Amino acid sequence: MGLYEDVSGKLQRFHQEQLLRYYEGLDAGEKQALLTQIDQTDFSILEQAANGHAPERGHITPLKAMTLSEIAEQEETFRAKGLELIRKGEVGAVLLAGGMGTRLGSDDPKGMYNIGLTKDVFIFQRIIENLLDVVKAADSWIHLFVMTSDKNHEATTRFLKEHDYFGYQPDKIHFFMQEMAPATDYEGKIYLEEKGRLATSPNGNGGWFVSMDRTGMLDIVKENGIKWLNCFAVDNVLQRIADPVFVGATALGNVGVGAKVVRKNAPDEKVGVMCLEDGKPSIVEYYELTDEMRDATGEDGERLYNFGVILNYLFSVDGLYRIMSEKMPLHRVEKKIPYIDAAGNKVSPESPNGYKYETLILDMIHEMGTCLPYEVVREKEFAPIKNKTGVDSVESARELCKRNGIEL
Ligand code: UTP
Repeated sequence: MGLYEDVSGKLQRFHQEQLLRYYEGLDAGEKQALLTQIDQTDFSILEQAANGHAPERGHITPLKAMTLSEIAEQEETFRAKGLELIRKGEVGAVLLAGGMGTRLGSDDPKGMYNIGLTKDVFIFQRIIENLLDVVKAADSWIHLFVMTSDKNHEATTRFLKEHDYFGYQPDKIHFFMQEMAPATDYEGKIYLEEKGRLATSPNGNGGWFVSMDRTGMLDIVKENGIKWLNCFAVDNVLQRIADPVFVGATALGNVGVGAKVVRKNAPDEKVGVMCLEDGKPSIVEYYELTDEMRDATGEDGERLYNFGVILNYLFSVDGLYRIMSEKMPLHRVEKKIPYIDAAGNKVSPESPNGYKYETLILDMIHEMGTCLPYEVVREKEFAPIKNKTGVDSVESARELCKRNGIEL
């Protein structure tokens, strides 16, 4: 049977026949490209999405964080352990940079954004400089894995090469691409972004380890004896990466994963907070917290749900292998999806017109079974750039950089 027949069968099974609506009008190359894209796209997420997207939550109880004062008491022990592991080559870093950064509104990858005022200071540069601080302190290179997606791989790799990797040793940087997921209308029908191409979007930041496997990155992990992977987001310009004290605390803590957390700036701050769900570590979203939970305090007067995650996790590689084949919950997110309408015209909607589908790294925390929430000082380590202005923006990040003595 030829590819066309295979693809038609697949489309029928998933009720997506509309994807071949313009097939006859395409040239031979476009036809082949469309059939190949349909053949290679994972449609099973559509079934998962149709079966209800929000998994039922279990019983939520508090999870205590290791606080700043507790860390200070053992800081030197933790630092020594962390530096030892880094020098042994057991710690790698994973930059999650496959997202679209739509809120920032730039067509370039988010890391290429220049936050400088009197000179160039690119987001990627801030991140690499922060990692270089640890490389210098340990006098040892750290393998840095960079996840991109189909939408930004080319631009990301070109940009970093052009800037000589901002001083990082090129053979210690490894790029890999995550997968894409189809984007659909509210009825679950996949949109066409061009007459010969499905609308797709990066499949979330939850599939990074599986993508590392598929792209051969885990061979590098194995060959180099890397036992811990520090995953972090592209947008926090004060991000401390492979922070030796955090590495030491997590390794000595006998847990599957460490999570950097910050104290909420107000009980109703809109961040996900660490908790236990049916006895396993988890993250409860701000809108899932009842008023009672939000205000609950422990014997020491500390609020019980008071530590928000900042997307900086240190995973044990053994633990990652263990959870690798677990099915992750699928989240659907409303999105503006440009598409070709029934009359063949290209439409760029002004408001959301469908869903993208993602798995999320925070769901991996639950699977890991044990987690150390590790407090860091918000003003020193958390300056996320999601928007141009306002909360979590270029403006607020610039202000925080200034307070930390970083010249812009
Ligand atoms: P965000 O949740 O901020 O998503 O990602 P985003 O897609 O980049 O931005 P918006 O919502 O469109 O404005 C948090 C981190 O996870 C990465 C992002 O690059 C960022 O570092 N990410 C997100 C991926 O690597 N892949 C994805 O599919 C999604």
